[in-house]
Amino acid sequence: MIDISGEAYQWLKALHVISVIAWMAGLLYLPRLFVYHTQVTPGSEASELFKVMERRLLKAIMHPAAIASWAFGLAMVAALGDIRAMGWLHAKLSFVVLLTVSHLMMMRWKADFALDRNQRPTRFFRMINEVPTLLMIGIVVLVIVKPF
Ligand code: HEM
Repeated sequence: MIDISGEAYQWLKALHVISVIAWMAGLLYLPRLFVYHTQVTPGSEASELFKVMERRLLKAIMHPAAIASWAFGLAMVAALGDIRAMGWLHAKLSFVVLLTVSHLMMMRWKADFALDRNQRPTRFFRMINEVPTLLMIGIVVLVIVKPF
């Protein structure tokens, strides 16, 4: 357990929430770009533009925001001490691991588009777009309401 003052903990929480807002913005927007990208011809000007947008969203926003969310989040976990009885935190972190897996999958799909070898239909990315939304709802309810 790391011992930090109440004010420092609140600063960690503020920086954590700022980071997760940026991370969620990317996780919700990138699948939308994939939906539009499936509707243009590989090699076209529009397809090349989507490649730039997807690469910059991942590199400039999603990667740093995911790392910052984990760093500030784990610092708070370390400050909480004995977390064995905190069922809400265990459930929340399980959802966050799924959110991180979806981030890693999006990196793979972005690579397929970048090499003009995407085979997945528009419908697939429309469905994928709902996954981060549902996980986010579960995460926010668990961390604020702490139901168990
Ligand atoms: C990436 C790994 C994450 C870790 C290790 C983590 C851990 C934590 C911890 C320990 C707290 C403090 C809880 C308290 O003191 O009551 C917290 C607060 C919070 N987390 Fe996370 N979290 C993570 C990701 C996320 C994500 C992805 C979201 C949203 C989608 C999120 C939303 C929040 C919110 C809104 C709070 C503030 C709750 C309050 O004010 O009581 N966290 N997080």
